[in-house]
Amino acid sequence: MSLKGIITGAASGIGLAAAQELVDKGWIIYGIDASETALSRASDLIPSPNFRPMPCDLRDAEAVAQVMKTIQKEDPLIHGLICSAGVLKLGRLADMSVEDFDLVLNVNVRGLWLTCRNAIPMLRAAAKAGEMSRVILMSSISAIRPKIESGAYSASKAAVSQLTQILAAECASEGILVNALAPGTVDTPMITGQSDPSKQGNWRPSGSSPLGRIAKPHDIVRVMRFLLSEDASYVTGTVIPVDGGTRAAFIPPK
Ligand SMILES: NC(=O)c1ccc[n+]([C@@H]2O[C@H](COP(=O)([O-])OP(=O)(O)OC[C@H]3O[C@@H](n4cnc5c(N)ncnc54)[C@H](O)[C@@H]3O)[C@@H](O)[C@H]2O)c1
Repeated sequence: MSLKGIITGAASGIGLAAAQELVDKGWIIYGIDASETALSRASDLIPSPNFRPMPCDLRDAEAVAQVMKTIQKEDPLIHGLICSAGVLKLGRLADMSVEDFDLVLNVNVRGLWLTCRNAIPMLRAAAKAGEMSRVILMSSISAIRPKIESGAYSASKAAVSQLTQILAAECASEGILVNALAPGTVDTPMITGQSDPSKQGNWRPSGSSPLGRIAKPHDIVRVMRFLLSEDASYVTGTVIPVDGGTRAAFIPPK
């Protein structure tokens, strides 16, 4: 029997890498994303009937409920939910537009909560059947060590870390394990779209990793695989930094 999963933000970056890896390992993956064009590119990259693209804008509560109903009709039991959809908008808090602030909070916090809320019946059903039931949320190093010009984003990721802990405690008795990852800078379109200093103040990818490189999406996916394994069956309510030691100690510029 194949394991079944839902990944949001499956059309790009970390979500796409997770979808590729899990389909490769035999999972059936429902890949949710707001961008139909990017989802169709993702389908080309994952040429398997086990990758099922599901266009949906997570800001729309009705649309989230509808897409989850469609998934539930096909697969009433879901073993893994990965919430990777997210947006990054930069700006000093005193200057940031209301639209940008709302977008960040609506996608990163409200959209993530709506996803969990609507997916929990399917995760619960898997746990009740004695099968694996895991949730992985994407927080960020910016929830632990915020930086200027990313106030809205850092606040949204701090909210994700709080939701992780509370959801984990609320769902533990039902057999659903909930954890989050807090990556440092990962080489994805989210970052390449923002790291041109001529576009956006002096912003740079967050800090320097003592390992001497920023993460690749697969560095994050490997930790996801641990959280989706039997080895993680006593791990819940944690926010795991995957940052190459970036936050471990301040490294002054040379
Ligand atoms: N890249 C990094 O450096 C980094 C670091 C820490 C945490 N994260 C977090 O990891 C997650 C994945 O980031 P990424 O770097 O892969 O980003 P990405 O931009 O490559 O991918 C994000 C995906 O989310 C989708 N999305 C955005 N808004 C949506 C909406 N309203 N409804 C549905 N889908 C929507 C986008 O279309 C995109 O495909 C995000 O939550 C991000 O905040 C990223």
